[in-house]
Amino acid sequence: AAETAADSAVDTADPAVGLTHPPTRHHRLLAWVGEVAELTDPDQIVWCDGSRAEWERLTAELVAFGTLVPVPAKPDSFLARTDPTDVARVEERTFICSEDPEDAGPTNNWTAPDYMRETMTGLYRGSMRGRTMYVVPFCMGSLDADEPMFGVELTDSAYVAASMHIMTRMGTEVLAKMGSSADFVKCLHSVGAPLEPGQSDVPWPCNETKYISHFPGDREIWSFGSGYGGNSLLGKKCYALRIASAIGRDEGWMAEHMLILRLTSPEGRVYHVTGAFPSACGKTNLAMLEPTIPGWKVETLGDDIAWLRFGEDGRLWASNPEYGFFGVAPGTDYHTNPNAMRTIAKGHTLFTNVALTDDGDVWWEGMGEAPAHLIDWKGRDWTPDSEEPSSHPNSRFCTPIKQCPVLAEQYDDPRGVPIDAILFGGRRATTIPLVTQARDWVHGVYMGATLSSETTAAATGEVGVVRRDPMAMLPFIGYNAADYFGHWIAMGKAATDEALMPQVFYVNWFRRSEDGRFLWPGFGENSRVLKWVVERLEGRAEAVETPIGYCPTPAALDVDGLDLTEADLEAVLKVDPAEWAEEVPLVESWFARFGDRLPTVLWAELDALKQRLGTQ
Ligand code: GTP
Ligand code: MN
Ligand code: MN
Repeated sequence: AAETAADSAVDTADPAVGLTHPPTRHHRLLAWVGEVAELTDPDQIVWCDGSRAEWERLTAELVAFGTLVPVPAKPDSFLARTDPTDVARVEERTFICSEDPEDAGPTNNWTAPDYMRETMTGLYRGSMRGRTMYVVPFCMGSLDADEPMFGVELTDSAYVAASMHIMTRMGTEVLAKMGSSADFVKCLHSVGAPLEPGQSDVPWPCNETKYISHFPGDREIWSFGSGYGGNSLLGKKCYALRIASAIGRDEGWMAEHMLILRLTSPEGRVYHVTGAFPSACGKTNLAMLEPTIPGWKVETLGDDIAWLRFGEDGRLWASNPEYGFFGVAPGTDYHTNPNAMRTIAKGHTLFTNVALTDDGDVWWEGMGEAPAHLIDWKGRDWTPDSEEPSSHPNSRFCTPIKQCPVLAEQYDDPRGVPIDAILFGGRRATTIPLVTQARDWVHGVYMGATLSSETTAAATGEVGVVRRDPMAMLPFIGYNAADYFGHWIAMGKAATDEALMPQVFYVNWFRRSEDGRFLWPGFGENSRVLKWVVERLEGRAEAVETPIGYCPTPAALDVDGLDLTEADLEAVLKVDPAEWAEEVPLVESWFARFGDRLPTVLWAELDALKQRLGTQ
């Protein structure tokens, strides 16, 4: 039986209660908190309650430390400037520590769990000295779920604790629901910057040595050295994608890097669409899209992560485990993503690595004309003549989902919503047409498994290089990617009727003309593609069968009132056999990486494609 919050009638605001009067009787949790405190040696332990007062205390402390700068033009909003070396996910420092290296597969970094635990235990020893250890009980997804997905993050970063207030359901309510025995994912995080007595702190403590380690066998996450969101807000990529994907494989569901939206047609018919695009390739934008075509309505359910489970009706249902948006700032403005702007305008938002205007507001590239003077993300004076952009290309806003003006009311429904269509998409200047419909589920899995995109600033490393990013999950699959493809295929087989599975489409908003322009206007105009998708679901829209799937005829796409030349429309829809012939060997070598473990039906799909292209 769950204990009530009254059982924990202890003043959790008093840091001294840490271990002597903890606000829970959860024995395993208490034992673990004690163990970690012993190892990391923090000055004090604070159990986070998720209250308004706690948010105010955390942000005030962070302002006093110099980690946060107030953004007075927006209510209750703050800006963090990170260490310039700690600005993105570090994929080369991210590890899947399965017992068997084969279970991590060729796309993940693997280290033996015992070795990793030993190495990181050495790093954690005394790593919280001079700091506070926050205990953050949180829940991914609705607290009303049959089996709520709990986690507890222990962190020495107040920035992380404050961000978790926005991104997750957390605090007293969660602890109460956990009772004395609920399972939870252990999430340990340290910035790795202990303070000796008298040593003064820096605004953004972090460590050159970084590890983002996952132990799928024990459902555990250990993160060290970085304060950046994707590396430190452990409920997000680490739990809700990497660990959850491994749980989903075992239990018959899926954790995906997907937006979820609710679409209503002019006739009042409702559809739910998910979209898997790699980092910084348009999920947040599509999730909040404002349709440009009359009569259509889009409502947001999630912008980054979807958990997909079969419902009692045999359909696949999607729910968003998060409680906030951690969105890419540059490129976001009232023309491209007005609903994101309205969400952050309501305040209560943490910005990271954006610029500050002279009148105390935030600014970033893509937000109209640049002001004459700014303070840039490194805290320096900036003018339009400055050499570097004012905001880091991976700067972010962290804002509560409830502030989204087009939030669908089903966002907290533990069952989620039934999915009609899955969109895969990436950033490709050539080859991939605006939209293609898969022939069937397995062909859809093939499309996802071969998804490719140009790299972005969301991860450290070179930008603009084409790489395979299967299902937009390359950095987030918590096990062997070949097994993950097998799981997708198995989900199709598990369906009581394949007709109940979502239809799969592949989109590319980023195809370019020979002179380098985007051929398609994108953003709100993507509603025209959603319309074609819906009309395909309804069996009404025209398509041509091409070697790669069904594509719209130029006439089937609603381009009414759109300023687009016929030549550009043709170019953006074009399936060029010569370009596809160049793609085939890339897919071949991609598949070859998985050896015998790759499901043979995917090789069969590639062979069929080659035959249709006439390249074999
Ligand atoms: P993560 O949050 O990192 O997983 O990325 P995301 O998929 O949510 O990407 P987001 O929607 O934030 O978009 C990233 C960048 O792509 C922004 O700079 C956008 O302005 C740009 N973008 C989004 N949609 C479109 C589009 O339809 N066309 C073009 N040209 N750019 C777009
Ligand atoms: Mn993402
Ligand atoms: Mn996003």
